[in-house]
Amino acid sequence: MTRALEIRSSGRFGRPLRHLPEVDSSNTEALRWLDADPPAPEGAVVVADRQTAGRGRWGRPWISSPESSLLFSLVLRPAWDLDYLGLLTVGAGVACAETLSGEAVIPARLKWPNDVVVGDRKLAGILTETRASGGAIDGVVVGIGVNLEVPSSLPAEIRGRTTSVTGEARRRGATIPGRDRLLAAILEHIEQVYDLIGSEGGRRSLTKRAEALMPMLGEDVDLFFPDGSRQRATARRLLPDGALEVETTEGVVPIRVAELKRVRAPE
Ligand code: BTN
Repeated sequence: MTRALEIRSSGRFGRPLRHLPEVDSSNTEALRWLDADPPAPEGAVVVADRQTAGRGRWGRPWISSPESSLLFSLVLRPAWDLDYLGLLTVGAGVACAETLSGEAVIPARLKWPNDVVVGDRKLAGILTETRASGGAIDGVVVGIGVNLEVPSSLPAEIRGRTTSVTGEARRRGATIPGRDRLLAAILEHIEQVYDLIGSEGGRRSLTKRAEALMPMLGEDVDLFFPDGSRQRATARRLLPDGALEVETTEGVVPIRVAELKRVRAPE
């Protein structure tokens, strides 16, 4: 049964809020809202109890079972230019990881660019989508899926690489935060992170905060690119636009779009 969502966010984000028992994808719904008349204002949020066509990066499906996930999409209308979009995705990851550490003592970390992980297991994923015209941003949708439980419908192979807020909190004897509380806390955290992206000093400090959550820095990683190619590199640092600086046999280069796998799994 679906219960009304109660979020007590003290900030700008989460107003107005559409809470839907079922939708194809909260990101798709938020993009439709951006295109509507009147369009979704900055801070608008779509929360779904279940998605019938949840989307992940690179056209992959995002599988979540009813009531076992926090699924939401936040509408933003940033005044800054497209160059910093990568940092927004990383910043949303910082907001999720820091919230989970604070609310549930979960040592959540970032797997650049859009995964929140505990060890090598994924806890949450972020999908940022943009409406832009002529180099300017009309609107951005930041979609976040947090596993409250590991969805039972996940294929076994993905299940082994997935974890949940409930499982991680229980393992540490911590109180399991409710969905509404987690949503409000993440929204407040994203708001704080978002405000940093507007200034050079803010971007520098956000980059440092993100780097502190990225255990793969200094390690060898395999990079997988959308065209199917792959490259071994050493992850060096996060750049202020959210790109990952890596060192390859060809030199030091910024990477903006890739998936990353650590060559040596953590103990
Ligand atoms: C990824 O890890 O590939 C990104 C997953 C993003 C999933 C969330 S769930 C809420 C929002 N709606 C979607 O369809 N996708 C995002």
